[in-house]
Amino acid sequence: MASIVMSFEGEIPMGRVMSVDTMRVFIHVDDHELLKKVMVGNLIAINGATGHQFLISIVERITRLPSDAVVASEALDDETLPQPEEMQDTIRAVLVGTYRVKDGDSGPSFKRGADSCPQIDQPCHLIQGANLTAFMGVLSQDVPADKALRLGHFAIDPTAEAVADGDRFFQRHAAILGSTGSGKSYTVAALLERANTLSHPNILLLDMHGEYVSLAKGQEYGYAEYFKIAGPGDLVAPGAHCLFLPYWLLNREEMLSMLLDRSDQNAPNQAQVFTSLVSDGKRKTLVDEGRSEVEASFTVDSPIPYDIDAVVKELDRLDNDREPGARAGTDRKGEWNGKLTRFISRLRAKSEDRRYGFLFQPPPESSTYDWLSMLAVRLLATNGEHSSGIKVVDFSEVPSDVLPTVVSVMARVLYDVQFWMNAELRTPVCLVCDEAHLYLPVRADADAAAKRALDTFERIAKEGRKYGFALLVVSQRPSDVSKTILSQCNNFIALRLTNEQDQSAVKSVMPDSMAGIADVLPLLDIGEAIVLGDSILLPSRIKLDKPKATPLSLTKNFWREWGEKSSDTAAIVAAVESLRRQSKVRV
Ligand SMILES: Nc1ncnc2c1ncn2[C@@H]1O[C@H](COP(=O)(O)OP(=O)(O)OP(=O)(O)O)[C@@H](O)[C@H]1O
Ligand SMILES: [Mg+2]
Repeated sequence: MASIVMSFEGEIPMGRVMSVDTMRVFIHVDDHELLKKVMVGNLIAINGATGHQFLISIVERITRLPSDAVVASEALDDETLPQPEEMQDTIRAVLVGTYRVKDGDSGPSFKRGADSCPQIDQPCHLIQGANLTAFMGVLSQDVPADKALRLGHFAIDPTAEAVADGDRFFQRHAAILGSTGSGKSYTVAALLERANTLSHPNILLLDMHGEYVSLAKGQEYGYAEYFKIAGPGDLVAPGAHCLFLPYWLLNREEMLSMLLDRSDQNAPNQAQVFTSLVSDGKRKTLVDEGRSEVEASFTVDSPIPYDIDAVVKELDRLDNDREPGARAGTDRKGEWNGKLTRFISRLRAKSEDRRYGFLFQPPPESSTYDWLSMLAVRLLATNGEHSSGIKVVDFSEVPSDVLPTVVSVMARVLYDVQFWMNAELRTPVCLVCDEAHLYLPVRADADAAAKRALDTFERIAKEGRKYGFALLVVSQRPSDVSKTILSQCNNFIALRLTNEQDQSAVKSVMPDSMAGIADVLPLLDIGEAIVLGDSILLPSRIKLDKPKATPLSLTKNFWREWGEKSSDTAAIVAAVESLRRQSKVRV
């Protein structure tokens, strides 16, 4: 318990409240020397209605203008320059919370929101030195140790630890946003590392570039379970860490968004025939498995294995079908004759393409009825022999055109399992969506496949809280990420953002009062962030911790390396082979 209490007794106030609106105060500063020390982001305590409470505000703007009187006298007599005491010094600050010297029997406390509006003429003090230490002490003691999620240190007081409420951070989705190289992946790794200190964390990280393989068990400081969506090189003898997401996990819309050419005049026919054949295939499996209860209520979207070769065969038959003509001895084209040709060739092309092997060429065991429950256990369990609670899923070899589909299938299957789980036995899960702009675009820019992904993720963003399913959205282009998803996020770690469009996208999802604080976004250092949201008491600039196990995303030192290191011919040759194989050849 922090026993040091903030006190301004005997201190001359720096100024007085000049004007107030709902969220902001304007302070008239009398101490002109002190003004030079004040910086944007500093904290100011305003005397509250009682002697036991202070309203805390963050400096947004500092201005020095010649006062009206000076301007008037200047007009009369231009000889002298305005003296400091003839200056009008003002500070604009945003109200963030209330500090109580004593809270009932307990010591000092801080809570968000101003209890009352500051009154005109109330004295204001800059919080610095021992008072700053006392105030910061209250901030960190306010989060109980079992909920504390350490993020780093406050920029205004590097000795003070910045801790967030870990429950609140994940409860209602969070986002990590920042330009490329600002430190997002490092922040993700640092969060995972913190979570890994808990007994049963459950976090799944969707890794688009294979940069988190260094967090895997077996690597230095590694702790995570590593999975990789099988690439073309993994089809013959897939390793234990290879994941397949067989075609039968896809629902009707996802399958069609991949296979159907909507501009084809036969598209509705193709969709209809395909859907009914898939439904028949699933029914056959259920009958063979003796699952009569499921058979009574399944739909075409239920994840039940079926034989795609049988479907193709039947499509082929219908495409070439002829039926008896009106006159005896003649025949004519069947109902579907010639209407399915293009659909079949697209389906064949996809299923034979090795890049789509993880969908269409899964190993035989993944076509069994029980396989899905094994997959769900591998990905959702926190205590199984195959699962540590933190899992990295490497999507780096997934072709970009199916990326939204595959990511959304994975998210949907996990979410659905979580949804259908007994509420009392359900434990919370967080899905970290790195590089979210790649598969969760703004709806207006989305193609058919990305729209399906958006449907899935928007549903999770809207309903996930109730089922203990959280999203942590990470992106370097917040302006390209679905607004619906971002606006559902309640906590933000905003790192350096240089692009104006992205800055306004971030500001648009922040509370109005924070817009001033967000102005520093382009000025932040690497690994420095503005952290906002209900998990942190004081929205502020934080120097984030670096993880021990770092992602493989190190920024190259061009100039130095050009001065020191020559290229490796064997590596170039190996890269060409990797390109041909569509699988990384390790040299
Ligand atoms: N907290 C930190 N403190 C100091 N340096 C950091 C910190 N976080 C990241 N860095 C440095 O910044 C570089 C890039 O970090 P990172 O890979 O996390 O960027 P990113 O935001 O994920 O970029 P991208 O959007 O391109 O994936 C790293 O080389 C690392 O050295
Ligand atoms: Mg990154």
